[in-house]
Amino acid sequence: MSNAGERMLSGKRVLLVIGGGIAAYKALELIRRLRERGASVTPVLTRAGSEFVTPLSVSALSGQKVFRDLFDLTDEAEMGHIELSRSADLIVIAPATADLMAKMAAGLADDLASTLLLATDTAVLAAPAMNVRMWGHPATRRNVEALKSDGIRFVGPNQGDMACGEFGPGRMAEPAEIIAAAEAMLSQGPLAGRRVLVTSGPTQEPIDPVRYIANRSSGAQGTAIARALAGLGAEVVFVTGPADVAPPEGVEVVRVNTACEMLEAVQSVLPADAAIFAAAVADWRVKSASDSKLKKKPGALPALEFEENPDILATVSGMGQERPVLVVGFAAETDDVIGNATAKRARKGCDWILANDVSPATGIMGGQENAVTLITADGAEDWPRMSKREVAERLAQRIAGALA
Ligand code: CTP
Repeated sequence: MSNAGERMLSGKRVLLVIGGGIAAYKALELIRRLRERGASVTPVLTRAGSEFVTPLSVSALSGQKVFRDLFDLTDEAEMGHIELSRSADLIVIAPATADLMAKMAAGLADDLASTLLLATDTAVLAAPAMNVRMWGHPATRRNVEALKSDGIRFVGPNQGDMACGEFGPGRMAEPAEIIAAAEAMLSQGPLAGRRVLVTSGPTQEPIDPVRYIANRSSGAQGTAIARALAGLGAEVVFVTGPADVAPPEGVEVVRVNTACEMLEAVQSVLPADAAIFAAAVADWRVKSASDSKLKKKPGALPALEFEENPDILATVSGMGQERPVLVVGFAAETDDVIGNATAKRARKGCDWILANDVSPATGIMGGQENAVTLITADGAEDWPRMSKREVAERLAQRIAGALA
């Protein structure tokens, strides 16, 4: 998306709520980077937050007064909490602790941060950070779902080593990722306010705990599409199998392994205005994947029995009320590309199909370039061979046009 130094957030007012967690130290870097991008940052420090970073460093880096207490009468005289909550273009919560999210989900308002968050009518971006068990706890899962359906946007948490010595999801997104998400939310692009689902990457279907069936998809095309859509201001939910290419910044990432998990993830993130199915989903899975490793037995080859995976694109295309207005599929073909892809569009019930020739000689699968034909109700349109990034940008523009 944007390069460091570009002032993508020029003139934007960010209210930054710093919760109490070890990740609060990253909020200092976030303030610096937001300001580099041209944003002004009004900091709000919770009581617990000020155990981790000092009000002095926050105010020095932001160049602004730090708001801390609901009952600080001076603040109320200068600016009431209602006004403060509405004075920004975006509210960023970093770190968003389990406690703060629980308060938000319940509508509690017992300190300045939670009161602002209850009173605001501004877009809110939360960057959660907590212990992996706290993130996985059913209470936090419920709260995150509730907040998402209230329209709160999330960035992270990431997987990794945590300050508490454990490993797993719970580590706060890096400042660069939070900035990318903020830029996407504040973008005035043609897809601002539109929610778009993108599937990407291969799926892996287990044979036993150590073996699986997969395919050569790198996830490059789906990743480029998600990035291009976010660049036009869309809220992108990116459901990805185990891809080689890292997911783009500024999108919500949902990781899955199997086709069944991908379908479940897709259903849980709908509704969306548009859905792009770029994943190379395995058509079959092993009927009864073994829980223990299949052992080699001399002279006896394992006989794998398969069963069909759900067709995610066809399922979503056939939805009633929840069907996105625009459903786009891909057709990976090796023979009679246009004929097969045209038939596939009708069979799956999607609006558009991007057909590509994945014969090994084309070098497309796993490569940098793509040569696609866009098939719509109006017929087939050949696009010249170009980079996957350019295909993605052109497609994103077309999607913006279709949703306008
Ligand atoms: N797709 C899907 N779920 C599946 C299989 C495919 O959502 N179980 C989607 C892909 O993401 C892609 C489109 O369907 O957008 C077509 O995928 P492709 O592999 O070309 O088609 P298949 O359905 O596998 O058909 P065939 O094997 O006959 O080519």
